Amino acid sequence: MLAGRRILLVVGGGIAAYKTLELVRRLRDRGAAVRAVTTAAAAEFVTPLSLAALTGDKVYSALFDLTDEAEIGHIQLSRNADLVVVAPATANLLARMAAGMADDLATTVLLATDKPVLVAPAMNVRMWLHPATRRNAARLSADGVAFVGPNEGPMACNEFGPGRMAEPGEILAAIERFFAAAPAVAPALAGRRVVVTSGPTHEPIDPVRYIANRSSGRQGHAIAAAAAEAGATVTLVSGPVAIADPPGVTVVHVETAREMLAAVEAALPADVAVMAAAVADWRVADAPASKLKKDGSGRPPALALVENPDILATVGRHPTRRPRLVVGFAAETDDVAANAVAKRERKGADWIVANDVRPETGIMGGEANEILLVGRDGFERWPSLPKAEVARHLVERIASALAGPEAPAAAGAARDAGPAAATAEAPPRRRAPAADPAFPAPPAGRRPGPARPRKTP
Ligand code: CTP
Repeated sequence: MLAGRRILLVVGGGIAAYKTLELVRRLRDRGAAVRAVTTAAAAEFVTPLSLAALTGDKVYSALFDLTDEAEIGHIQLSRNADLVVVAPATANLLARMAAGMADDLATTVLLATDKPVLVAPAMNVRMWLHPATRRNAARLSADGVAFVGPNEGPMACNEFGPGRMAEPGEILAAIERFFAAAPAVAPALAGRRVVVTSGPTHEPIDPVRYIANRSSGRQGHAIAAAAAEAGATVTLVSGPVAIADPPGVTVVHVETAREMLAAVEAALPADVAVMAAAVADWRVADAPASKLKKDGSGRPPALALVENPDILATVGRHPTRRPRLVVGFAAETDDVAANAVAKRERKGADWIVANDVRPETGIMGGEANEILLVGRDGFERWPSLPKAEVARHLVERIASALAGPEAPAAAGAARDAGPAAATAEAPPRRRAPAADPAFPAPPAGRRPGPARPRKTP
């Protein structure tokens, strides 16, 4: 019932905030996406790091954090949710909500939202029973805010009475009741099968050494998680990474490019393939079964390399089981746009998500990503966004493309004109993509301007 639901969790500054971590874990286990906003006081009770780790997203706290404002904005933060949950809702937070104040990010989001709000109050018994709080709670109820708790019992301040925050299980049940009553909205990718590759591959040199690269798997894993949140059945084929498997996803762990290809082929048919892995281009020919030893001559062993199969190209040109939409990545250090345009054609992909992986960009292995989305007739630049945000926008795009006609006419060149030289040089497609790569809507956040062609740096 909670799969694919988006919950904005506003965490107030109360001792009960530790219970909120358990609530997040249980919501995520049920497939809900949780994004957390904290008040300044909340950070005294629960670390943003634990919240970020459990939500799998960054934690939003400051109203005047200009980067966040540019990236997402408080209005959008409050609208990109199906339900806003305030837990713990302190007396101060309830008072500010009841008064319609907007003096920090939490209250601004609460004032700006057009979504239902559920609060779980937590405070000292005298504060809960105080006429001012009674007034505020009545005001909020009259405004349509739903309440869960508070419960009666012994309190952290050694008093007894109503004021304890409802237990995570009770808040979860209230959230589930809310969605059971809400009209069912089919998640955007319900009934779709998506296969995603992620992380590096390790190609053995001998039994103890291998060729690898710096991919962390963060972007691919985030895409798998976002697709699952959108209701898709997701198979994630992951190379060796140090991050956790995303919830609600079937994960196949592999080491080498050849194993990755076999796992991807086994996951077909699929509606969508997103090949985000940084696959090693070469492997050592006939890697020995025993450790390579120095022979005392001072001469290093000669390592003969052979090329690995290209998984994206295999899927993009699959004669019988090509997914309707094939999305590749392009990790480039030079001429990002031109290389990505050529790579899209060469590998039979519909879209290429290109990024500049020069070490100074910090993208490879980092938390944020700045991408260029290259389609058949154009490209568009997205601002630097957290990888989870890039994943959500990409999944929104995928959902709109799949919702489009089976074989759309070519998009108008004027609308999505790409880098002229690169598209003009590209060879004609062997196979028209079934999904529309014409970018039906720009990503949310700071919009990159959908219609104008952009120059690459
Ligand atoms: N890819 C793949 N199998 C390979 C190599 C790459 O599936 N053996 C996929 C990646 O997952 C990515 C896309 O191809 O979606 C581009 O990867 P990239 O490393 O940028 O391209 P290369 O194929 O290595 O091309 P080049 O050598 O020109 O950089």
